[in-house]
Amino acid sequence: MENINQLYQNKIITNDGTNTLYSKKFDQHYHSVKEGALNESLSKHIIPAIEYHKNKTELNILDICYGLGYNTLATLYYIIKNKLNIKINIYSPEFDKELLDSLISFQYPKEFDEFRNIIDELISNLYYEDENYKIEIFNGDAREYLENLNNRNIKFDIVYQDAFSSDVNKMLWTQEYFTQIKSILNKNAIITTYSIATPVRLSIYNNDLQIYEYKPDKSNKITIALNNNYIYQNINYKYIDMELKQRRNKTAKAIKD
Ligand SMILES: C[S@@+](CC[C@H](N)C(=O)[O-])C[C@H]1O[C@@H](n2cnc3c(N)ncnc32)[C@H](O)[C@@H]1O
Repeated sequence: MENINQLYQNKIITNDGTNTLYSKKFDQHYHSVKEGALNESLSKHIIPAIEYHKNKTELNILDICYGLGYNTLATLYYIIKNKLNIKINIYSPEFDKELLDSLISFQYPKEFDEFRNIIDELISNLYYEDENYKIEIFNGDAREYLENLNNRNIKFDIVYQDAFSSDVNKMLWTQEYFTQIKSILNKNAIITTYSIATPVRLSIYNNDLQIYEYKPDKSNKITIALNNNYIYQNINYKYIDMELKQRRNKTAKAIKD
């Protein structure tokens, strides 16, 4: 019989020396082995999103999905390392309870050593709160959680869109999914994602979000989506004209439920 340890003991050391896992169910690694787990998390999500909002005093972050918790923990690491005075509230769905339970013995990077008590409390209670951080993990389906967040009227400044790829985890990349996301965004919110696929960008764009491409120093290109109605001027952000893209590629379509 397959138990938790057999399912998750296949620890993989990525190229920055930090560990990830491989999901048999989705047939994918949780992080890019080539780019490194911690490096990928910081370069593709945390640094672009926090730098975009670095003048804020409080940020609501939606972490899709918790997985091994790198994006949540790397957010705290980045805030502390850069002495940013921002209160952080993170909300994160994860439907795999066996995975969450296994994290108690997962070997995180040394950068997360100072969060040992946070990690333990999160795994036990799916909740952590102190004066600087509030973290809520929802053990269930992400789409259901988006409804729940909408009903609670919680609005987000940042979304880390880090689901498995759309070929194996379609329901977290569709136009209808991003309609749910859009309904809980603050004005000026930023979505970060490793996917640069046109169908994914259309799923987002069709919800009236602006699409940009950004090349982090230490990783491959990513997509940034902004919830505003003007073109954001940043020398490092390339604005993607999705109308032009669709005129040039008539077969390009958003992903649908
Ligand atoms: C690529 S991993 C996330 C990695 C994570 N951001 C990290 O930094 O460790 C994707 C996660 O989404 C979870 N997942 C997939 N579909 C889901 C759904 N519909 N609802 C909740 N969680 C889901 C998987 O169990 C997996 O843990």
